[in-house]
Amino acid sequence: MNETHRGRLTREGIRIHETADFAGMHRAGALAAQILDEIAEHVFVGQTTAAIDKVIEDRVNASGAKSATIGYKGYQHASCISVNHVVCHGIPGDKVLKDGDILNVDVTVIVDGWFGDTSRMYVAGKLSRKAERLVQVTHDALMKGIEAVRPGATFGDIGHAIQSYVEAHRMSVVRDFCGHGLGRVFHAPPNVLHYGRAGSGPRLEEGMFFTIEPMVNLGRPETKVLADDWTAVTRDKSLSAQFEHSIGVTDTGAEIFTLSPAGKFHPTWA
Ligand code: MF3
Ligand code: CO
Ligand code: CO
Repeated sequence: MNETHRGRLTREGIRIHETADFAGMHRAGALAAQILDEIAEHVFVGQTTAAIDKVIEDRVNASGAKSATIGYKGYQHASCISVNHVVCHGIPGDKVLKDGDILNVDVTVIVDGWFGDTSRMYVAGKLSRKAERLVQVTHDALMKGIEAVRPGATFGDIGHAIQSYVEAHRMSVVRDFCGHGLGRVFHAPPNVLHYGRAGSGPRLEEGMFFTIEPMVNLGRPETKVLADDWTAVTRDKSLSAQFEHSIGVTDTGAEIFTLSPAGKFHPTWA
């Protein structure tokens, strides 16, 4: 069997990886998470998003890994940085962070051919009450999704767990972007929806690797992409948050590949 793509595919085209492959994903995920730990001190009022991205790019290069996003569909940066009402795919630039801004930083690295993809929220200055609520609900929604992961459950169970939790808090789940399979590729089947019906969708099997990365809005779920063809924003300009982990399905549940080594996954845990 070919070294690049071992293991079988389900009829939905989802790769079932081998036990030995978890170690590769763990290394890639740990590096991505460690880089996100290290940039916490680089997020402050007056800082630009380009400066944060530069720290990330330098760190990826110093580690001997590769950035998965530089050159991906013409994207030119080592991270996406999405501030306030930017939902995802914010392009790092000369935007200066001001007091109370919340931002998602999303990093994907390639280590020995394996992709580690993770994002989390940061705050510049003081976290407002309403932003804190949004960030907390989004984080907890991701964890509810991960708790639904076990062999025999379905992808719809994951989406349902996330959607019902978010809507119970009177916030909305973005429909226009989803999680994805990954492994030795960046984006593979299936689309991991952050909403849905319990019991619907493909069944989870041990050896599946994918991301869960819910985007949650304080207002309505609709988004639009700006003229730069990347930046997605909420149509109603409401605040948006996102957290992302890369995970693998084990015999009993999920292994999270992108756990924060320093325990700083949430902005109030730093
Ligand atoms: N890391 C993003 C994800 O979670 C994808 C970013 S692609 C980029 O899937 F080109 F915008 F960087
Ligand atoms: Co992703
Ligand atoms: Co990502």
